[in-house]
Amino acid sequence: PQLFQPERVNSQGFDLTHRPTLAAIDAARDPFRGHAWQAAPLTAKGAKPGQTAAVVNPADPGDTVGRITWATPETVAAACAAARPWDAAPADRAAALNAAADLYESHFGELFALLHREAGKTLLDAVAELREAVDFLRYYATQADGAPPLGRVACISPWNFPLAIFTGQIAAALAAGNAVLAKPAEQTPLIAHRAVELLHQAGVPATALHLLPGAGDVGAALTANPGIDGVAFTGSTETAQIIHRAIAANLDPGAPFIAETGGLNAMIVDSTALPEQAVRAIVESAFQSAGQRCSALRCLYVQEDIADTLTEMLTGAMDALSIADPWALTTDIGPAIDAEAAAGIKAHIARAQAEGRVIKTYPTPAAGHFVPPTLIRVSGIADLEREIFGPVLHVATFKAQQLDKVIDAINATGYGLTFGLQTRIDDRVQYVTDRIHAGNAYVNRNQIGAIVGSQPFGGEGLSGTGPKAGGPLYVDRFRRHDRNRTAS
Ligand code: NAD
Ligand code: ALA
Repeated sequence: PQLFQPERVNSQGFDLTHRPTLAAIDAARDPFRGHAWQAAPLTAKGAKPGQTAAVVNPADPGDTVGRITWATPETVAAACAAARPWDAAPADRAAALNAAADLYESHFGELFALLHREAGKTLLDAVAELREAVDFLRYYATQADGAPPLGRVACISPWNFPLAIFTGQIAAALAAGNAVLAKPAEQTPLIAHRAVELLHQAGVPATALHLLPGAGDVGAALTANPGIDGVAFTGSTETAQIIHRAIAANLDPGAPFIAETGGLNAMIVDSTALPEQAVRAIVESAFQSAGQRCSALRCLYVQEDIADTLTEMLTGAMDALSIADPWALTTDIGPAIDAEAAAGIKAHIARAQAEGRVIKTYPTPAAGHFVPPTLIRVSGIADLEREIFGPVLHVATFKAQQLDKVIDAINATGYGLTFGLQTRIDDRVQYVTDRIHAGNAYVNRNQIGAIVGSQPFGGEGLSGTGPKAGGPLYVDRFRRHDRNRTAS
């Protein structure tokens, strides 16, 4: 792989402090406020369609965002049979991916509306998500070359980055010349459908890119199909383990499996940290995207000496957060993705409340699947039995001489996705980051929002297999390295 990539500029995004820009965004989103999208599998004709279902807004279950016709195991079989690797010249593949990036950018109003209404994303999140999707397209386009592809790649993605991660997996596999069978999360099929339409419009052949909307059974049908030559998966660690077993049972033993999974992410704040900087980083890391990022901060360790001051400043900052409809420009925290997710997070908060461990929580709007930002006292990260995928931050304190124990406890979770450190001691930065097991460690800043091409993103241990997304080694996993075999 080419470690130093050709010159390329990341998407500019939008300046949300500029009033005319906000007005332009409003005007572009407005036609899609009441729009109802229709989506279905995009693949070989002839397979009997599955059932249809309404897709509703997680902030307002009375708002129907559209209707989806699901794929079935028969649709999956027909798509696998029809899929053909993309044998266009590398420069033509790159041109189509760049054209798709341009189309994504010019459709920002519609894509923002889908991100708000289908995925519950705030405007800040929607802007970041569109930028990341565009950056993936343009970054992986630079890596299209003549090396042989794997053949047919299944791309299985989560709902929490329904445009960026969905696009990133597909763009990398297509850049390498594969046929892609894309299975978006069942919660967010409409934006996936629109993205695939734009990719087709940009010149990606229908035979090389198939959309198979559905739940886990559709993903399972893909990983059971011996025509699949590799799997890219992003989602929970539990699902990755199921898929790993399915690949071992059903696919060619050489079929690569890229899994990017969950985390129990920690931040350490020592007594030398700048309090205002730490509070800002904590609020962004724990509560932006309603905590529904794999990278989000779950367990904060604060040195005892500054714990009272920092907690007071933190709850003060939390008091200012607006929990509301993500379409509103002032909203900081949107809803959980669905009723089941909200109920699971609220049950976790209720248990902590019953044990007298809730430091701060808030009321939420009555309609919609909202969950309040909440601070919960814990004795350490070992108290977290699993990843709580919402705006819930667990807080522990430590004494100066316990730093090594804290590092050991974080490493002992077995996860290793993101980590944050707030300190003004230079030697400590080196000491802690050398010892911590985390794919992405951030110092004196937030720990979310890795930038494509600059901050390759991915974890170790239970958090993923690598290679890191948005980094120079990713596309290479979608190439065939046994040159004696050819893709068919
Ligand atoms: P999930 O594991 O429930 O689902 C992910 C995808 O897998 C969905 O498309 C789902 O339909 C599919 N799936 C479910 N069962 C399957 C099966 N048996 N075979 C094949 N496919 C199957 O995850 P989610 O709830 O959509 O996403 C949230 C999770 O994703 C969190 O754990 C989060 O940490 C993780 N995540 C990780 C990263 C990363 O880069 N490391 C990024 C985003 C999200
Ligand atoms: N890449 C995303 C982030 O860094 C998950 O927050």
